[in-house]
Amino acid sequence: MELSFDTQRRNFLATSAKTGVCIACCGLISTIISACDTVDDGEPVINLGDYPELQRPGGAIKKRYSRLNNSEPILIIRRSESQFVAYSALCTHKGVEVKLPKDGEIVCPNHGSRFRTKDGTVIEGKAIEPLQQISATYDAAKNILRIG
Ligand code: FES
Repeated sequence: MELSFDTQRRNFLATSAKTGVCIACCGLISTIISACDTVDDGEPVINLGDYPELQRPGGAIKKRYSRLNNSEPILIIRRSESQFVAYSALCTHKGVEVKLPKDGEIVCPNHGSRFRTKDGTVIEGKAIEPLQQISATYDAAKNILRIG
C-alpha cells in the first residue's frame, strides 16, 4: 500500500507526538546539543529516560554542549540510584579524552592516569590534578539531570 505524502507526514507527526519526540528540537538543535536534551535557564537538561546507560548505578555517557566545557566532552556518571556526577572528560595531564568509567576508575588512554569515579581524584599516573567537576543536579520527580 502506497501512502500519500500528506498521510506519511500526518503519521510521522502523530508518532512524534505520542513518543514525545520534539521535531524542532531534534531537527534544528541537534547540532548544538545532542539527542533531545532541552535547555533551561542556559543549562542543558537531560531526560534520563532517553539514556539507557544512565538507568543503572555505574552507568555513564559522554556528551558535548556548546555552552559548557568549551564544547569539549563531559563525562556524566550515575553513582547510585539518586546520585550523579559530571566531569570534564579531558585528562588533566595533557588534555586527552578519558575513557568511560569501569570498576570505579576512569582511565586516560594516553599515559594511563587513573581517576576515581566517585570524586575525580587521581589514583595514579602522570596527572596531578583531579578531573574538573561540573555541576549535575538530579530531579528525581521529573527524572531529569541539569548539567552546568
Ligand atoms: S594525557 Fe592523560 S595521562 Fe597523559
